[in-house]
Amino acid sequence: IKRIAINTGGGDAPGLNAVIRAATLAAIERGWEVYGIRHGYRGLIDTKELIPLTRDTVRGITHLGGTILGTANKGNPFEYPIQTPEGVRLTDISDKVVENFRAKQLDALICIGGDGSMRLAQKFIKKGIPIVGVPKTIDNDLSGTVTTFGFDTAVSTATDAIDKLHSTAEAHERVMVVEVMGRYAGWIALASGVAGTADVILMPEIPFDLEKVSEKVMQRERAGRHFSIVVVAEGATPKGGQLMVRGPKEAGREVLLGGIGQYVAEEITRRTGKETRSLVLGHLQRGGGPTTFDRLIALRFGAAAVRTLAEGQVDVMVVLDPPTVRSIPLASAIERMRTVPLDSDTVLTARALGINLGD
Ligand code: F6P
Repeated sequence: IKRIAINTGGGDAPGLNAVIRAATLAAIERGWEVYGIRHGYRGLIDTKELIPLTRDTVRGITHLGGTILGTANKGNPFEYPIQTPEGVRLTDISDKVVENFRAKQLDALICIGGDGSMRLAQKFIKKGIPIVGVPKTIDNDLSGTVTTFGFDTAVSTATDAIDKLHSTAEAHERVMVVEVMGRYAGWIALASGVAGTADVILMPEIPFDLEKVSEKVMQRERAGRHFSIVVVAEGATPKGGQLMVRGPKEAGREVLLGGIGQYVAEEITRRTGKETRSLVLGHLQRGGGPTTFDRLIALRFGAAAVRTLAEGQVDVMVVLDPPTVRSIPLASAIERMRTVPLDSDTVLTARALGINLGD
């Protein structure tokens, strides 16, 4: 190996810059040259967006949020949106990416991303690009790794918000419903809800019963606690009900413009007569610098990705398998989402603390 590239894809997560720095420095230590591909694969479509990464370009970025490379949610080269006189046409320009990769004499790619990016990586591996993946998602729902970087930071942000909501909830004797991220898994809701001492936590893994949720609120009311804190993962759904999701792609189904949090808040008011307020923490959970824990995992992942390449392994993803970071086949990392096991210790802890989980 003489020259490698790094890219970041999908939603950003605190710790991306730490991975970039560690991978760059580890590669330079081995005498390799490093290039950063800006905005996912854009730097291999328009090579002006392919930038050299040096000791200088990665200086002082470990603690910074976002990614110095930029990221991309759209721009999958296999279905690339190209503007034509008839409108946008999705076109397969993956051959162009491979061509530019070869033209730049790149030997391998470190791809930092979530399940979408890893699926894309697999397609490029089939086309001959050697890739090592680095798992990234604040949602913590990638298989094979006990945690991803960004998750701890997101949980800290959410816990901080829940702490702050307590005083205003109590002052006004209201039910505060806070919606946190987690489309397919309730890791953020569960961790921040338990740490922030919520009264109810709703997650995609347990379809919730609004009667049970309202009963919990009223039970507190009877005990003289005239306020409650409800944490809802964005992917949580009511029991037996139709899937409550947002977005035009769910045409034909009930669309919740205000989000699941607002729906839960309205239903609690309707059932208990209590005044409620809801808020969506949204992208606040992805912003800012990484916690120390996330910085460390990110740095370890970056260094491990280079080590893995040096050992001649490709088509793998580095994972945290305490106490080590090792690699697993990429395919096994993306065959399913990692959801919260219902018998996991944190779930049992929540129940032991009397937190209602919607059931
Ligand atoms: O995948 C992480 C995530 O934070 C999800 O929980 C959330 O639905 C999504 O990203 C939102 O991403 P964006 O607004 O960038 O499309």
